[in-house]
Amino acid sequence: GVTVHVVPDAPALADAAAEWLAQRIARTPALTVLVATGQTPMGMYAQLAERVRAGTLDCSGVTAVQLDEYAGLPEGDPRSLRAWMLRSFVTPLGVQTVVPLLDPAAFTGRLAALGGLDVAVLGLGPNGHVGFNEPPSGPDAPTREVALTPESLRSNAAYWSGLTVPTRAVTAGMDVILGARETLLLVSGAHKCAILSEALDGPETPLVPASFLRRTALTVLADRDARP
Ligand code: GLP
Repeated sequence: GVTVHVVPDAPALADAAAEWLAQRIARTPALTVLVATGQTPMGMYAQLAERVRAGTLDCSGVTAVQLDEYAGLPEGDPRSLRAWMLRSFVTPLGVQTVVPLLDPAAFTGRLAALGGLDVAVLGLGPNGHVGFNEPPSGPDAPTREVALTPESLRSNAAYWSGLTVPTRAVTAGMDVILGARETLLLVSGAHKCAILSEALDGPETPLVPASFLRRTALTVLADRDARP
């Protein structure tokens, strides 16, 4: 089933999203969480870190699972999405266990051994991608290396001023994402309004990979600009 919550603005989105995940971690301290990078969840992660500092939330039992990574980056490259996940989520929340995404077979095996994902925290690509499951991606698309679309190269350029965006990436598959027991999709800003409407109100189609999230126990948190 799909639940859509619309909140006034990005700060309210961060608060609501942090509350959503904190409740689940309180109930299940060993929660396994697929962790998106990108701009949208950063406020949420900062709010969770605040709770950890205040001593009202303990994330030490959480397992953080990497959602996507650029392919072919040298060790220590500043554009590493794993490094971004570590500095925005893992380190500030005191998470002790990380499942990295590099080799698709190793990742898939490790996830199976963990019993799959409890929760997937996702952003929405401007072209309807989730992770780097670029259109077209069907519901069975596995964890794999992909070529990034021009649209993703453009939107990702905003993260790395002055640096180029790698043209290839490895992404957790649609099969992994859709297998999560619960999914939280965060969407902020007027530039996401049309694609969010396609994902929620249009047909399920590989041309909008996020449209398949409706098959899961999906909570959408959107601000007014993204869902007027
Ligand atoms: C990026 C990433 C996704 C992210 C999405 C939205 O390209 N591959 O993991 O969730 O696109 O990004 P943002 O939150 O910056 O809009």
